[in-house]
Amino acid sequence: MRFALHGPTLTLRPPEPSDARALLDLASEPEVTRWFSWGPYTSIEQPRAYIEHCAGQRERGEHLDLLIVHRELGPAGITGLNELSLRDARCMVGTWFGRAFWGTGANRESKALIAHLAFELLGMHRLGSYSNPANERSTRALLGLGFSHEGVLRHWHRHGSAWVDVNVFGILRDEWAAGDLAQVPVRLDGAPPAGFAAG
Ligand SMILES: CC(C)(COP(=O)(O)OP(=O)(O)OC[C@H]1O[C@@H](n2cnc3c(N)ncnc32)[C@H](O)[C@@H]1OP(=O)(O)O)[C@@H](O)C(=O)NCCC(=O)NCCS
Repeated sequence: MRFALHGPTLTLRPPEPSDARALLDLASEPEVTRWFSWGPYTSIEQPRAYIEHCAGQRERGEHLDLLIVHRELGPAGITGLNELSLRDARCMVGTWFGRAFWGTGANRESKALIAHLAFELLGMHRLGSYSNPANERSTRALLGLGFSHEGVLRHWHRHGSAWVDVNVFGILRDEWAAGDLAQVPVRLDGAPPAGFAAG
């Protein structure tokens, strides 16, 4: 059975080639990718290449990006686990949604699903996240979900010729287990891809 995580209104699953058109529509809005080193998408070749790249990263156990699918409205965005250290049982989460899904509660449910994956299914101890200090919406959203602001990493990313600072946030296993995110019901199909579980 194919791997998928189901919540009350959203499903997370690996993106497939047939999802390219939906990703093009979602990420062709400049506001969506404003804080990223990529985008906005301008042609179908870009999401096609991304989906193919994802499959390789998933097979190599490097990076696990998942398509967020709304039960009625279809594909909504991407959330994923990256910078995995299995030795230290930690990873980072990054998320983007199409503009129509902002402020709808979809971000909260997607974070509940990805946190369940990280802590419950993969045995992580710590889940981190970054935000650009100027991206107040993302910063507020992470704080509202129970992540702690732990500091600012200076010149952490390079976007073209510009160096970009990031806020770093984290939530630990016990904090997640005691918080609201762990209360969201999650149903699993299949098993997470091999190579992502902490020992
Ligand atoms: C970041 C993102 C995933 C957050 O999801 P969301 O559904 O928009 O977030 P929410 O509506 O749940 O929360 C946003 C918070 O910011 C606040 N907010 C909204 N607009 C804001 C603004 N212009 N400035 C500051 N805060 C703002 C909201 O009031 C809310 O805070 P509250 O919970 O204290 O009321 C989504 O906006 C997105 O995909 N953005 C584009 C990609 C991106 O920036 N990803 C993050 C990369 S680090």
